Amino acid sequence: MELELTLTPRQQAFVEAEADEVLFGGAAGGGKSYAQLADALLYALRYPGSRQLILRRTYPDLERSLIAQHLAFYPRQVYSYASTAHLGRFVNGSLLEFGYCDHEKDVYRYQGAEYDVIRFDELTHFSEEMYLYLMSRLRGANHFPKSIKSSTNPGGVGHAWVKARFIDPAPAGRPWAAASGTRLFLPSRVQDNPFLMQRDPGYLRRLENLPDAQRRALLNGEWDLFEGQYFAEFRQQIHVCQPFAIPAHWPRYLTLDYGTDMLAAYWVAMDEQGRAWVYREVYEGRDNGKGEEGRGHTIGAAARLLRQAGQGESLRAALAPPDLWNRRQETGRSAADYFAQAGLPLTRTSNDRVNGWRAVREWLAPGEDGQPWLRIFAGCRNLIRTLPALQFDPRRPEDTARQPHELTHAPDALRGFCVYWTGPARAPAKRRAVWSPDQWEDYERADAAGRAYLIEKYGDPF
Ligand SMILES: Nc1ncnc2c1ncn2[C@@H]1O[C@H](COP(=O)(O)OP(=O)(O)OP(=O)(O)O)[C@@H](O)[C@H]1O
Ligand SMILES: [Mg+2]
Repeated sequence: MELELTLTPRQQAFVEAEADEVLFGGAAGGGKSYAQLADALLYALRYPGSRQLILRRTYPDLERSLIAQHLAFYPRQVYSYASTAHLGRFVNGSLLEFGYCDHEKDVYRYQGAEYDVIRFDELTHFSEEMYLYLMSRLRGANHFPKSIKSSTNPGGVGHAWVKARFIDPAPAGRPWAAASGTRLFLPSRVQDNPFLMQRDPGYLRRLENLPDAQRRALLNGEWDLFEGQYFAEFRQQIHVCQPFAIPAHWPRYLTLDYGTDMLAAYWVAMDEQGRAWVYREVYEGRDNGKGEEGRGHTIGAAARLLRQAGQGESLRAALAPPDLWNRRQETGRSAADYFAQAGLPLTRTSNDRVNGWRAVREWLAPGEDGQPWLRIFAGCRNLIRTLPALQFDPRRPEDTARQPHELTHAPDALRGFCVYWTGPARAPAKRRAVWSPDQWEDYERADAAGRAYLIEKYGDPF
């Protein structure tokens, strides 16, 4: 069989790379995904009976990109793909499995498996925990070379850990020895991919028209400008805890974010040391992370759902953002009015985003004993999923990005609680002195110097 593959020099370097962990990363369109697929094909043919896993974060991503892309150039004479099993078979017995890893626990799908090569496409979409867990699936009783090969653009959820693992410690292009094995970072630039440049010359121009930080990340593959993750201090190990029964005397709060297509609500209890425990979640939305269309809730239905979930516990306050007090034109009443009518009176919290995020950061910070001020029960999985996924707004770095929109609901709800408790930073108000009528009479009669003296003596009344 004649295999017709032309690779760019960078892709060739990726195929030939000899390190335990390789990252091909940088500009968009540099031919990274193609390199993964070509490399997987060459490996499968070279090592009969080998087994590889190639991953994207979600199944739709996988289908749109890798699955479609590889079917276009894998030779039919030696390869067939079974779409329900997401499994590719080579006539020499090699296997190529296509996988995804939406949620942390999805890694356990690969629990029993062993692979010779594991490939992550868009590595920054994955969490470090997923990467490390799947790394442990790399083994087998054969002599095929084992490695983890990844490709990515800068700037996803996992930007910070990927950069720390591959980019910061050593110069690009040279393998180096980490404690867990050798690592290599191969940078990619869009200009390295003549295939794309020829076929779609407008692509470069479209990248050039992006906002500054995004352009430099995607066009030049620069990693420094775009420190993606907003709450980089978030750690599963310290901010997530196993549920326990909340003592009856701890005050409880509900904090929510509500829109026509989503409802995110969290119950928070305060312990005796003033620490907060986020102990219950109601999360319904268009895309609720289960990949299904969520229902939109009417206010009545949302209030009922929350009352039911609340199990009759009494609340200090149910906090909601100020926009729920906007009056609707048709009725002259606000969402808050309807919530109250449905048995859930709301308390208005602040929608000051910047101070709100600052408050969230303060709550996530450790106290003197090293424990954070706020912890989240493991069952609140949408908050645990989306809080660390929030990105910086590249144009306003003190704020979070509002895209992808689905990531914002749970953190917005939490922010309402944090800012309510912490309060916005305020400049100390100027204290105004209050004068008696006699003092004012003295003031009226005095000349400039006398007036200054009186202000000095009685305090500034203006
Ligand atoms: N060696 C090659 N031979 C033929 N076509 C190629 C080759 N390398 C890349 N291409 C084509 O160039 C385009 C971009 O490549 P690819 O999707 O691999 O880039 P990428 O770096 O993964 O991009 P993104 O950052 O958008 O994920 C694709 O259409 C791909 O098929
Ligand atoms: Mg790609």
